[in-house]
Amino acid sequence: MAGEATITLEVFRYRPDDDGEATIQDYRVPYHEHWVVLDALNWIKDHADGTLSFRWSCRMGVCGSCGMMVNGEAKLTCAVFLKDYYPSAIRVEPLINFPVERDLVISMDDFLAKLQAVKPWLIRDDEEPPGAEYLQTPSQLAQYQQFSMCINCMLCYAACPEIDGIPDFLGPAAIALAHRYNLDSRDQGQSERQEVLGGEEAVWGCTFVGECTAVCPKNVDPAGAIQQAKVASTKDWYRHVLLPWGKR
Ligand code: SF4
Ligand code: FES
Repeated sequence: MAGEATITLEVFRYRPDDDGEATIQDYRVPYHEHWVVLDALNWIKDHADGTLSFRWSCRMGVCGSCGMMVNGEAKLTCAVFLKDYYPSAIRVEPLINFPVERDLVISMDDFLAKLQAVKPWLIRDDEEPPGAEYLQTPSQLAQYQQFSMCINCMLCYAACPEIDGIPDFLGPAAIALAHRYNLDSRDQGQSERQEVLGGEEAVWGCTFVGECTAVCPKNVDPAGAIQQAKVASTKDWYRHVLLPWGKR
């Protein structure tokens, strides 16, 4: 790299099978204006240290697997350029609010369980006849389309100040996903999801800081989904109190 422009990456290292101590390791990496942080990590992996572990797949902001803390902010590393930090060093750490498995790899188990808890599929009361289609108008699609753009990157969980204090908080993406199905004209499962959504560890655990929406790379607006879900939850409660014999 003699004579070549370089930039320093300060990378979080944690190898539980070795010493078990987390450290920060510095790497000097070639600087190219068109490189993103993920390119620099891949250069390290290929040329400097093959033991470095991190997740990525699509390199185009679609798979949601490359989320990390970049200088303390939750980012998709395939979407942040070295030139935005050069010539300063860039610190790369695993997403906060998740257990670290190794280096920059976090455990997704709790996040996936929360997604599953909201029943993210179409629920119907009736038996679907073979070949049945449930058509939607463009305006019915528009009701939930924004909330279906989530790529499960988990940046909103790293940005959320509630997760640290309420580890069981359902969290932004899971609530936005539940709201997406509740708004779908083909779905009849709102009352089933309400049992999960209506508690202190779900919509009412959110204090509307809004950081989840600020970091979301897909403009999903999970904070907006949570506020709308609060309104729906309140209406559901009143319906239940005023019409206790009726269907929730
Ligand atoms: S809501 Fe946005 S930030 Fe959260 S997981 Fe989905 S895409 Fe990522
Ligand atoms: S590698 Fe797929 S979103 Fe970054």
